[in-house]
Amino acid sequence: MPIATKKPAAKAKAQVAPAAGTNSDKDNGTAKAQPLLNQQGQILQSFGTVLPNLPLALDAKTRKSSVDQLNQILADTMSLRDLYKKHHWQTVGPTFYQLHLLFDKHYQEQSELIDEIAERIQVLGGLSIAMAPDVAELTAIPRPPRDREEVPVQLSRLLEAHQIILKEVRESAEKAADAGDDGTNDLLVSQVLRTNELQAWFLYEHVVDTPLTRAE
Ligand SMILES: [Fe+2]
Repeated sequence: MPIATKKPAAKAKAQVAPAAGTNSDKDNGTAKAQPLLNQQGQILQSFGTVLPNLPLALDAKTRKSSVDQLNQILADTMSLRDLYKKHHWQTVGPTFYQLHLLFDKHYQEQSELIDEIAERIQVLGGLSIAMAPDVAELTAIPRPPRDREEVPVQLSRLLEAHQIILKEVRESAEKAADAGDDGTNDLLVSQVLRTNELQAWFLYEHVVDTPLTRAE
């Protein structure tokens, strides 16, 4: 789903300091140290575009395709990251300690992936999404309630999110490889796919219904 971009705001003049060396009565001799605040200017690059010429030996069409796919994966990874933090805070019950720690470990690992994905988008001459409202518009991961939920429900939500990401990562990795974008393919397979698979394993083993203290 494309994100609507706002038109550039009209160029406004920043606060102008008095000319150098003229410490007038008005500025009380502070002109040279005054930070220039409330500055606005032209947009350098519109969202949804890629730079036409980069020394990457990769054509703009291929880079644009990879950037679009990576932004979708980025939005979903940011949602999953935040879902981990929500559950890190809200988990309850006999497994509180282990899940509290595990959810935060996965949160950290997803945060690292986010930086890798976003910087790959920039490397390719595109613009990565960054802000929560843009993530909310783009993500395919269902919004959870603000309420506290039981552990099995928390785990189910996380597993569903992992599956959504794993599916799109496999599809995007294949497209990137077919188009010759090996760097994107490598990032998606070696880091995003492997990390998500491993994290899913650590979760789904928790919802195997086995006895805790007495064998059946
Ligand atoms: Fe914490």
